Order: sequence, then C-alpha cells, then structure tokens
Amino acid sequence: MNTLAKVTQGALVATLSCLPMSLYAGSVEVLHYWTSGGEARAVQVLKDQMEADGHNWVDFVVEGGGGGNAMASLQDRVLRGDPPTAAQIKGLDIQRWARLGFLRNIDGLAEEQGWDGRLPPVVAEAMQYNGNYVAVPVNVHRTNWLWANKQILDNVGVSVPRTWEEFEQTAEQIRQAGYQVIAQGNQDWQHATLFESVALSVGGPEFYQNAFVEHDFGAMKGDTMAAVFERYYRLVDDMNLNNGVSEWNQATARVINGEAAFQFMGDWAKGEFAAENKRPGQDYLCAPVPGTTNQFLFNIDSFAIFELREPSPADLEAQNDLVRNIMDDDFQKTFNQNKGSIPARTDMSMAGFDLCANISMSEFIASANNDALLPSIAHGMATTGTVQGYFYEKIGELTANPESPSDSARALAKAIRYGQYVIK
Ligand code: GAL
Repeated sequence: MNTLAKVTQGALVATLSCLPMSLYAGSVEVLHYWTSGGEARAVQVLKDQMEADGHNWVDFVVEGGGGGNAMASLQDRVLRGDPPTAAQIKGLDIQRWARLGFLRNIDGLAEEQGWDGRLPPVVAEAMQYNGNYVAVPVNVHRTNWLWANKQILDNVGVSVPRTWEEFEQTAEQIRQAGYQVIAQGNQDWQHATLFESVALSVGGPEFYQNAFVEHDFGAMKGDTMAAVFERYYRLVDDMNLNNGVSEWNQATARVINGEAAFQFMGDWAKGEFAAENKRPGQDYLCAPVPGTTNQFLFNIDSFAIFELREPSPADLEAQNDLVRNIMDDDFQKTFNQNKGSIPARTDMSMAGFDLCANISMSEFIASANNDALLPSIAHGMATTGTVQGYFYEKIGELTANPESPSDSARALAKAIRYGQYVIK
C-alpha cells in the first residue's frame, strides 16, 4: 500500500476508533432451539463472543427439542419477507431453503478462513448448495450413544453392555435390583432417535443406507426391519413411558440423578451431564449403542445464513462476524465442550475435551475412513423434512400401539413411501 494510502487509512482508522461502538456495531437475530442446560450454556458462548465484538444479539428462541417448532416459526418469518440473520437449520433443509433463494453465498468468508482445508468432506458438502457455502457448521453430534449412571451399574455389579445379549442380561439384573432400566422422553423424535440406532445395530450400515437414505422399499418392509422392530419393542417395554417424562433433558436428568440406569440419546445429553458437573468415567459412562462401535450416525448442527433485505453496513459486518466466530478455534472448542458434540473442524486439537468426546472424534474419523459415516434420519441429515415427519409419526404410533414386527415394518415402509410422494 503506498504512503498516501497509508496516511489516509491511518486517519480513517483514527476517526472511526473514536466513534462510539454503537455507531458501527451491528445487530444479529439468530433463530435456535437450544434451551436445555447444556444447550443454553453452549449458545451463550456465541452470544458472549458477538457482544465482545461490539454487536447486539437478538435471541429468536423457539423451544422444542429436535427443532420442529423452530422450523414452523422460521417459515412464517421468511415467507413474510423478514428473515433472521441466521437460523439453526441443518442437513437437507439447507438445500431446501437455498433452492428457494433465501440463503446468502458466503464463499468469500469460507475462503478467508480456509474452510475447504479444515472441514471433513461430509460436513463441507452439507453446508453447500450448488457448490457454494450457504451455512456454517457448528459441530458434529453422534446420535448412536448409550448413557449410563455409573453408581447404579456399580451397585448392581454390571458393566456397560456392548451387545444386545449383554443388554438383556444387564437389564434383568437392574430390574431385579429395583431400578428403572431406560429413561426416555415420550416424544416421537426421541423414539425415532432410538429407532435409528437400533436399525443400524441390527441391520448394519448397508441396510441403514438402503432403508433410510435410499428408501429402498424392499429393505424398509423386509425381514431385517422386522428384526429391528422386535429389538426396539423389547426396549420400549423397559421405558415406563407413562411416567410423565416428555422432554429429552428430563430423561437425562433421571439418569444423572440415579432414578434410571440408561438413556439412549445423541451426545447433546452429555451437555446436561457437563452442566451438572458430572464427569465421564466417574459419575456416568458413555458407550456406542450396543452393536454400533466404530459406526457413526452423524447430526451436524449449523446456521444457515439468510440474505438480508438492504442491511446496514454494520448489520452486514455483524453477520460476517457471526460466521467467522462460529468457525473460530476458541468457539469451536468452548461451544462443543458445553454442547456435548465434537468440533465440525477435524483439524483441531482435542486437548481439553473429555473421554467421550475423544471416543467420538476417533470413531468419527474411523467411520469416515471405512465409509461407515451415516446421516441421521431422525435429525434431518438423511432425507427430506416431509419424510422425516412421517417417519416420526409412524414410529410414535407404533411405540404407543405396537403391531407385529413384520406388520410394523410394512407400515413404516408405507409411511416413508407416502412421505416421498405426498405434495404438502
Ligand atoms: C437435535 C439438535 C441438537 C439438540 C437436539 C435436542 O436435532 O441437532 O443440537 O438440540 O436436537 O434438541
């Protein structure tokens, strides 16, 4: 830069720096549904960073685990021509919003921070539409986890089951000792989250891919899916679903408090243990759902970045800073330690992460290397939101009123097929 330009730039910076922050600080409005203990602590990390940068954070919070309510609110706002700065949108829903022309191309920011060299391909691809980045990844959650109260297992004299046969034996001993075996919130998305893990465990990665990604009708209605339902129904028998527990984090609290031995849930549950200062290996244990070691059902949280109508330079810069902060090392570390997930970036050190996070990262990399990384159908990564909705509804119906395993498989296959072709 030549001398005259340097002098001019210096004078400009000197002038700007004496302006009050509000004059060039922007505002961001962010839609999310992170309201539980661990989730709220995690999203607070982002709020604090944005405010440290001098920006104003407007919280557009819509409660409801799994995000179903949030998407309905977002649709209303966007169709009124008033999108938020960013919204917690993930998986194929990113493609849907981008295809409608609502999302902003943020390739410039991605190039500035070298995303292509820092994100694993499965994450980078999920954030792009037609090869352009339109969303920023926050983390990678794994859904096929089993969480256990260590004190109960020690009292009963059992260890964390690695196979379904071991689970049956362990559950019987826990039952005999008078403890509730499984804590489960009575909501469709939670049942669907468990069901997908059982499908991966019983059927294996190829079956899962055929049924829940390709929607192969034979795979969905066949004997293997019937075997999945048989295993799933035996787990439902151990849930005591009429105990009034509905929210996922209420179920996690029952394991934390020693009222139940196990919860099958994604590792956002670990954020609840962390929020209560519980330590893995001492207060609780984490293990892959029986039969799914080195297999990884991924659920990538992300923020889709909306095209803003005539934003002020300050608000546009605030939107840019929001994206930059989310991909920043410190945020990726602090946020994910609180959220229970692992960083979206695999170029980061895992120093400071707990035992379960390190297991998750190593199994994420192992799964990626042996093509066993699978998209969660229960959390918007494998199929369309419409099919996911019919998947939720049918699993919920069958959980409440089980049919024979083979009839259940046929009913689920029809529900998914309907979701593929219905015009909503
Ligand atoms: C998932 C989301 C997680 C967590 C969970 C419970 O869909 O990806 O971040 O919020 O729902 O609400």
